[in-house]
Amino acid sequence: MAPLPDEIEAYGLVLRRWRPSDAQAMHDAVVANTDHLRPWMAWIALEPMSVDDRRALVLQWEQAWSEGGDVLLAVWRDGVVVGSTGLHQRIGEGGLEIGYWVDVDHLRRGIATATARAATDLAFTVPGIDRVEIHHDVENLASRGVPAGLGFRDVGEQDSPREERAPAETGRDRMWRMTREDWLSR
Ligand SMILES: CC(C)(COP(=O)(O)OP(=O)(O)OC[C@H]1O[C@@H](n2cnc3c(N)ncnc32)[C@H](O)[C@@H]1OP(=O)(O)O)[C@@H](O)C(=O)NCCC(=O)NCCS
Repeated sequence: MAPLPDEIEAYGLVLRRWRPSDAQAMHDAVVANTDHLRPWMAWIALEPMSVDDRRALVLQWEQAWSEGGDVLLAVWRDGVVVGSTGLHQRIGEGGLEIGYWVDVDHLRRGIATATARAATDLAFTVPGIDRVEIHHDVENLASRGVPAGLGFRDVGEQDSPREERAPAETGRDRMWRMTREDWLSR
């Protein structure tokens, strides 16, 4: 499978695949956001990481992406990392799931919404992708506002397929879906 697209500039943001050369910028962003992300992002349990660990992780992501795996993208605004997003192939054929987080000093300015909008545009550039989904813990009300605001359809709840739990997560996910047809005709 061809690698997923890895860059888009839209809505005042640049979404670009995390590169090994971004390791320091990623490190600074994650360190500044560890407390903010801990309740909802299970991977924060791996912190603290060094810049070298971070670079090694990005190299693993790069390898997986180049072989047709998921893509993880930094979100830049005016040359500053304001968040991160990803297109994940874990909802079955023809689907991509979007994840995201936003820097604690940039909340409630529409950045997650703009990020998810750009990531959805990017996802639908991939031939064969007919739906994009956003899944969030049922208690994560901040995350819920993003797909709801973009017109994704609430398609119900399921037990989270992930075994790792962040401290605030209940293990129950709400799922939102956007079809290619609805996105392109909106
Ligand atoms: C969830 C998160 C990405 C939202 O980022 P954001 O850039 O602040 O979101 P937006 O500004 O685009 O908000 C869109 C809407 O979501 C809702 N929302 C956002 N933050 C909210 C909060 N703290 N409480 C209630 N609703 C909230 C609102 O409806 C908001 O629209 P409004 O500001 O016009 O009222 C951010 O809070 C975050 O990084 N949280 C920790 C990581 C996380 O939970 N990621 C998602 C995992 S599924």
